[in-house]
Amino acid sequence: MCGIVGYIGSREASSICFAGLRRLEYRGYDSAGIAVVEDNELKVRKVVGNLNNMEESLKTKALPGSLGIGHTRWATHGRPSIENSHPHLSCDGKFAVVHNGILENYQELRSQLKSEGHTFKSQTDTEVVAHLVEKYYDGDLRNALISAVKDLEGAFAIGCICAGSPDELLAVRRFSPLVVGIGETENYIASDMGAIRAETDKVYVIDDDEVCKITRGGIEITDLDLNPIEREPYVIPWPADAAQKGGYKKFMHKEIHEQPDAMRACLAGRLSSVDKPITFENIGLTVDEIKGFKKIIFTACGTAMHAGLVGRFLMDKLARIPTEGDLAAELQQRDPVVHEGTLCIVVSQSGETADTLEALRAMKAKGAKVISVINVVDSSIARESDGVAYIQAGPEISVASTKAFTLQVLTIQLLSLYFAEIRGTCPPDEMKRLKAAILAAPGQATELLKREDDIIAVAKKYYKKPNAMYLARGVNLPSAMEGSLKLKEISYIHAEAYSAGEMKHGPIALVEPNMFVVSIACEGPTYGEMIGNIMEIKARSGPMIAVAYDGDKKIRMTGADPDAPADDVGSQPNDMIWVPRTEEYISPLLIGIPLQLLAYHIADLRGEDIDQPRNLAKTVTVK
Ligand code: G6P
Repeated sequence: MCGIVGYIGSREASSICFAGLRRLEYRGYDSAGIAVVEDNELKVRKVVGNLNNMEESLKTKALPGSLGIGHTRWATHGRPSIENSHPHLSCDGKFAVVHNGILENYQELRSQLKSEGHTFKSQTDTEVVAHLVEKYYDGDLRNALISAVKDLEGAFAIGCICAGSPDELLAVRRFSPLVVGIGETENYIASDMGAIRAETDKVYVIDDDEVCKITRGGIEITDLDLNPIEREPYVIPWPADAAQKGGYKKFMHKEIHEQPDAMRACLAGRLSSVDKPITFENIGLTVDEIKGFKKIIFTACGTAMHAGLVGRFLMDKLARIPTEGDLAAELQQRDPVVHEGTLCIVVSQSGETADTLEALRAMKAKGAKVISVINVVDSSIARESDGVAYIQAGPEISVASTKAFTLQVLTIQLLSLYFAEIRGTCPPDEMKRLKAAILAAPGQATELLKREDDIIAVAKKYYKKPNAMYLARGVNLPSAMEGSLKLKEISYIHAEAYSAGEMKHGPIALVEPNMFVVSIACEGPTYGEMIGNIMEIKARSGPMIAVAYDGDKKIRMTGADPDAPADDVGSQPNDMIWVPRTEEYISPLLIGIPLQLLAYHIADLRGEDIDQPRNLAKTVTVK
């Protein structure tokens, strides 16, 4: 976790680092810090809490200097405090480092350094790096950093500056993301491209055990033995303002509204007409391999896993390949059987989630073919996969993922149909209907977003309730899980998701007027059973919001007054969320959207800090 930035040039480094940190805040916001070199001295500013405190501090007292590094923290070792905030300094105060990652052998290094006379000010793992650089320094900062890195075990992206070296910024990585931004007479480092996109559209994506010596006039990339590395610059394809709020109150709200366009971008080049086959570039799979797959394993964390669970359903149903789905943190515990013909599909927005990356490596080591469904181009998971299907969502800043989920679902739907088409497992008329439903989805998503006021009206009735339960069956069970996750992440309402079939086996005991239930009951194979479940809950005083297709008359045929209070005991749902009709297997693409809006507006009415929910970080690069 955590985000790092750095700048070397002729402008004020602290302002540029601060602006970069703002864009990295999704990686953590427990505390922040910036160090600059001025007059051959290191000047450090640290604050606890989010970056508003840093902004205040820099306004009150400027931090001049044209070389600097910055950090925004998500605490792993040591509580959020000034002492534990980065940058960390050596004993003599001459070397400063910022770090994203986790050093696994820091206890041993710390004891060793202490025995050599170094004194520590923090409880962090990172501080050992500053002391190691100090220990190895003999006049050359790069050599000292390389020697330090050779002692480290674990994951790191490190930025390092030295009081006596005002003309160089050093950076190195292993397992944690790092890019170097390329300017004219100024250069940058950052944990991701979005942090520095406002400054430049050209970056070098740095690999494991590569060291960067960055001056105002150039960037040298070498390995740990100082062998030069040639790298082509990567040109960031999205515009500089793509990571700004664009008039919306919150990034989450903006990203929910970006979904129709993002869907179109994701479809481009893959599906254009019901009569044409689906295509995937760079997927790294031959037709023969796709025909020969005997087993698929989806793996991911959090929201991405919910998209993977949609995939588990579709690959079985449409491509007729036995498919499993496991949380990345659990996959290895099960030691799954991998034989020839096993494909692992890894799903991740960031492409950097530690558990997901480890699951990918474990599956590769077992001999599985691994492809990934990723948003961030050239991220670690993308690079280690045999092939990648990019979801094309553009930057997602809000910690609570919305557009990435929708596009993960869409990409997986396309992949499932692509496989089914090649394997000949889906009848042509069904294939046409499913393709037509996908092509209609961006327009239907626009229609759904126009109904936001209806969702706000529903949110106003329920936002004070302490508990919620989301129910569904079949392909929409992951939609219920994602809806429930969204609500708990940003509103802190206790929310659970269950297969409606499980209700009678326990959860129904929780039903009472203070728990509202969201039931996904769109006409399709599970509709009749869902209606039965709705009536059972209503009979027990459970306030109910039902999600159903436009024009469904049966769901509110008898009973309750549509304007009845939320705790009314009728046999029908109290409130409805209407969704444009689509095909069952495509429906998770649309049903997620009003559930995102419901969570957003409930959290907004409760006055929560939606873009920065407590204790969460967007990219979890620690296990
Ligand atoms: C964190 C984020 C979630 C995300 C999960 C997996 O928990 O808060 O929004 O779904 O990590 O992240 P990934 O980048 O691998 O999709």
